[in-house]
Amino acid sequence: MEDPPSTDANEENLNNRMNELKAFDETKAGVKGLVDSGITKVPQIFYTPPDPFTTNKVEFSIPVIDLDGIETNQDHRKETVKKVGNASSTWGFFQVVNHGIKQNVLDEMLEGVRRFYEEDTQVKKEWYTRDGSKRVVYNSNFDLYSAASANWRDTTYCSMAPKTPNPEELPLACRDIMIEYSKQVTKLGTSLFELLSEALDLKPYHLKNMGCSEGLAVLYHYYPACPEPELTLGASKHADYDFLTVLLQDNIGGLQILHQNQWVDIPPVPGALVVNIGDLLQLISNDKFKSSQHRVLANHIGPRVSVACFFTTGLLPSSKLYGPINELTSEENPPKYRETTVREYSLHYNSKGLGGTDSALLDFML
Ligand code: OGA
Ligand code: NI
Repeated sequence: MEDPPSTDANEENLNNRMNELKAFDETKAGVKGLVDSGITKVPQIFYTPPDPFTTNKVEFSIPVIDLDGIETNQDHRKETVKKVGNASSTWGFFQVVNHGIKQNVLDEMLEGVRRFYEEDTQVKKEWYTRDGSKRVVYNSNFDLYSAASANWRDTTYCSMAPKTPNPEELPLACRDIMIEYSKQVTKLGTSLFELLSEALDLKPYHLKNMGCSEGLAVLYHYYPACPEPELTLGASKHADYDFLTVLLQDNIGGLQILHQNQWVDIPPVPGALVVNIGDLLQLISNDKFKSSQHRVLANHIGPRVSVACFFTTGLLPSSKLYGPINELTSEENPPKYRETTVREYSLHYNSKGLGGTDSALLDFML
């Protein structure tokens, strides 16, 4: 039998990895930069060990919910509330169609993302940072130095609310559409929080009045084509750290949700938006709603682009405490979580990074 590697060898491996991560980070060109340079092999820092879950081959997928007429037709609204409630407590995910955001706005948003990433590296570099207090944070792998494996994607984070940006604070390539899209997603988010409140048997404005829709962070992702997609992931398994996420994906696919210990594809549906419950909504709903783990596969085909709108104030200073909603707890159903602030939760989540076995939420369980 071979001896296990000595401590010295382990240390050397760690040092090598750290040096490779730094070298990659310092290019400020992200995964796209690697692909542009012509690499044909995935570098080791991106290797991701396979997980124990299999991919579900059966036609079995998250519900697609039609929002047309929910403001005018009370019967349809009631039915929709039921569907939203069921999807949120079983899957934690659903797709919405007839959500009020026009196809040309969706198309232009994805086009704007491509424009940003396909701009000259010199222009993009100006936005490259790991300083989370910046309005716009472009980098590859926010958790590059803490996660076990780096992901095959680049991301730009823009804080859009509660403090709205001046247009000059946003990258020119997607400035106008970011402002327009954020406005429309905010409106959709407001209706979704109403439906979710009703599904919890609360007054329609309950979640809004708690401040769940106050903050909006828009993260736009670029998943370059990958020469060896079996060796890595576009995004490691994670749950979202916000109250609610509204995701726009292009037609390439690769997004999967972990449901009953199986990976289930979330196929692109033309014109649809993917909605999912975040950790903070699971916490305040006392587990009535589920923040599900999901991931994105790497692909020979690319680039894939997506835009994730996170309803959260994230790392902004916050003092408001969030715990399980009183109306949702009782003697038989006591609070399962301790109270926290949005900032405290976000800091904790960020320090853990993506790809861990345990959800960051577990650390807040009573
Ligand atoms: C996320 C996310 C999925 C995607 O941003 O948290 O899960 O398809 N994105 O990009
Ligand atoms: Ni996510």
